Amino acid sequence: MRVLIIGGGGREHALAWKVASSARVTQVFIAPGNAGTALEAKCQNVAINAEDIASLLSFAQKEGIDLTIVGPEGPLVLGIVDAFTTVGLRCFGPSKVCAQLEGSKAFSKEFLTRHQIPTARYARFTKATFDPTFVMAQRPPIVVKADGLAAGKGVVIAATHEEALDTIEQMFNGAFGAAGDTVVVEEFLQGEEVSFIVMVDGTHTLALATAQDHKRLLDHDAGPNTGGMGAYSPAPVVTEALHTRIMREVIEPTVAGLMADGMPYVGFLYAGLMIAADGTPNVLEFNCRFGDPETQPILMRLQSDLVDLIEAALSGTLNQVTAAWDPRRAVGVVLAAQHYPDTPRVDDVISGLNVAAALPGKVFHAATRQRATDVMTSGGRVLCAVGRGATVAEACQQAYALVTAIRFPGMQYRQDIGYRALARETASV
Ligand code: AMP
Ligand code: GLY
Repeated sequence: MRVLIIGGGGREHALAWKVASSARVTQVFIAPGNAGTALEAKCQNVAINAEDIASLLSFAQKEGIDLTIVGPEGPLVLGIVDAFTTVGLRCFGPSKVCAQLEGSKAFSKEFLTRHQIPTARYARFTKATFDPTFVMAQRPPIVVKADGLAAGKGVVIAATHEEALDTIEQMFNGAFGAAGDTVVVEEFLQGEEVSFIVMVDGTHTLALATAQDHKRLLDHDAGPNTGGMGAYSPAPVVTEALHTRIMREVIEPTVAGLMADGMPYVGFLYAGLMIAADGTPNVLEFNCRFGDPETQPILMRLQSDLVDLIEAALSGTLNQVTAAWDPRRAVGVVLAAQHYPDTPRVDDVISGLNVAAALPGKVFHAATRQRATDVMTSGGRVLCAVGRGATVAEACQQAYALVTAIRFPGMQYRQDIGYRALARETASV
């Protein structure tokens, strides 16, 4: 079987590595991939941009690709799945209309409200309909979101009314391009964040292992929001009882609601949840794809063949398969470039990858590229070092041993990945 993976980040490296481990797979192409995907067995990079759907489609046809797996949201929102399925190619991910769950915050808030799925109260505005009295009536902090895709930067938690009004004005004035033409203003929710990711086949769902992400740049959850500075699986906060609640109150009504609305959802579905003190799983956001960096620790724990699971999802038989998980904990630490998330420094040589390769655990590449014999940095989140262990503490030790082996100028990473799970572990000993 010949598989094409779309994207070039850490998530796609983990997907390529996992798919290549399937005995059924003979070759994996990654478009565009990175320096890490190029080195995996059976894997080959293809120099096509992840959003160049016409070129991806003709590549898949020419190469006789049996299955395409889409990593990032960009091509999904542009309709890559519709384009591939129209010509009879199997492509795993949601259709263009379903991808609006991530592509438009206003769309997803309306959907959540219509189907009575727990989420923060909100209002949506355009420049023409904006009503500052609504903002003044909120109690800070006030959450302001650009409607469209903004590479994880379109959410501002404003500490004051003035900051909220200022942010909204900047969004209307194009700070996030067309993504800010519509703005969602919502209530600030307290609680603990969880990444809950499932596979969906239109009707049935298969919950993947739970995970937690660290969105802020700095230790102790300080600094600006990022795409994610590290993640671990499982998330001990998700007890069996909470898992049941999330499935019943969020996942099942979402999948049924999409079907009822005439847009059956197929693909990975990521619910970003804020678990309230009373256990209510409030939806902060939907992503129409696997998480990055959650994919890296989650797939390090998946024992089943991912290709089998994806094929079941594409044929509407997810209810007939189960996923087996390694009971060990997995912790992934992101190594980011200097000045990430604003204007990351690039083109530095990364050293120590060969040392890390001899250690237990796995280093997934994200923004890397090969130049002659060197691996160079090429963007914000450069690598993700994943360790495993019987305890979170052991998994952290393994991950940070990998981190210590690697160096590049300006490298930044959090020292406290997994702290919530570690605290729970210590409390339960
Ligand atoms: P989003 O892209 O919508 O997930 O927002 C990015 C981050 O902002 C989330 O991961 C949360 O940490 C935070 N956030 C978003 N919405 C809210 C909210 N209503 N209350 C509190 N924090 C929020
Ligand atoms: N780690 C958060 C995301 O994938 O959006």
